[in-house]
Amino acid sequence: MATTDFEADLATTGKQVDAALEALLGERVLPTGRLGDAMRHAVLGGGKRLRPYVVLRSAELFAIPEAAAMPTACALELLHCYSLVHDDLPAMDDDDLRRGRPTVHRAYDEATAILAGDALLTLAFEVVSAPAPQADPAISATLVHTLARAAGATGMAAGQILDLEAEGRFDGGEPLSLSESQVSHLQSLKTGALFRFAAEAGAILGKASPEDRVRLVRYGAALGRAFQIADDLLDEEASPEELGKATAKDRARGKATLPAVIGKGAAREKLAEAVSAAREALVPYGDRASRLLAAADFAATRRN
Ligand code: IPE
Ligand code: IPE
Ligand code: MG
Ligand code: MG
Ligand code: MG
Repeated sequence: MATTDFEADLATTGKQVDAALEALLGERVLPTGRLGDAMRHAVLGGGKRLRPYVVLRSAELFAIPEAAAMPTACALELLHCYSLVHDDLPAMDDDDLRRGRPTVHRAYDEATAILAGDALLTLAFEVVSAPAPQADPAISATLVHTLARAAGATGMAAGQILDLEAEGRFDGGEPLSLSESQVSHLQSLKTGALFRFAAEAGAILGKASPEDRVRLVRYGAALGRAFQIADDLLDEEASPEELGKATAKDRARGKATLPAVIGKGAAREKLAEAVSAAREALVPYGDRASRLLAAADFAATRRN
C-alpha cells in the first residue's frame, strides 16, 4: 500500500474514531463543567489516531468488523490521551503545546489536568469492559487484563518513570548515561506497551491462536520501537508547526533517546530495522496485512 493511500485510509478511519469518541465524550453523556470540558480538550480535535487504527486493522485480520472493535480502539485512544495529559504536566515533561493547542494544564490548570487524566484512564476501562450485545465475557476480561498490564507498572507507567529517572532528576544529578539496550527497554515500556496492546487486541477479539497472538505482539513491539525512534528524531529535526508540539527539547533536558545515545545515523538504521521486524512478523498474512505493514512504514517516515 502506497504511503499516500495509507494516509488517506488513516484519515478516513480517524474520522470514524473521532465520531465514536465524540459519542463517548459528548455533552449529553459527559456534562459540561471543568472536568468534562478538560477531558474533551484532551481527546477531541487532533491526534493521528494511529493506535485505534492498528486495533481496527488487526481486528480486521481476524475477520472482526469495525463496529465490534471500535470500543476497544476508543478505549486505547482514551488511555493514550490520558498518558499525554500527564506526560505534559510541569512535573513531567513540562510542555505547553500539544496537537497544536495548549496542553490541558495550560488551558485549565494542573489539578484539573491530573483529574482529567485520571478520569480518561478510568473511562478507558469503562469503555473496554462495557457489555455489548453478543460480546463474549471471556474476551472482555482478557482485553481488560491485557490493557491494564500495558498501561501500568508493567507497561507505560513503568516506562515513564524510567524516562524521568534517566534525566537524573530524582537525585538532583546529571542525566544517566544509559546504554542503547537500556534506552530500547525504556521505550518498549513507555511507548511499545500501548502499541503491543493495539496489535494484540485484534487477535484477542478474533479469538486467534496463541501463535497468531505472538505474531501480532511482535509486530506491535516493532511498530512501537519505530514510532518512538521517529518521535525522537522528529524532536531534533522537525518544527513545532509541523508537529503541533515543542521540539528540540529532549537533548536539552537530558532525555534518554537513541539519537542521543548512538547518534542520528545509527538511530535511523535502528528505525529501518524495526520496520523490517514489523514486516517479518506479518509475512504469514500476506496481502491481508498490507494496511498494518503500511502503518509501520508510516510510523517511520511520518512528518508529524
Ligand atoms: C505521542 O504520540 C506520544 C508518543 C508515544 C511519542 P502520537 O504521536 O501518536 O500523538 P497523537 O495522538 O498523534 O497526538
Ligand atoms: C511519551 O514520550 C510517551 C508517553 C507515554 C506519553 P514523549 O514524552 O517523547 O512524547 P511527546 O514527544 O511528549 O509526544
Ligand atoms: Mg515524556
Ligand atoms: Mg513528552
Ligand atoms: Mg517526544
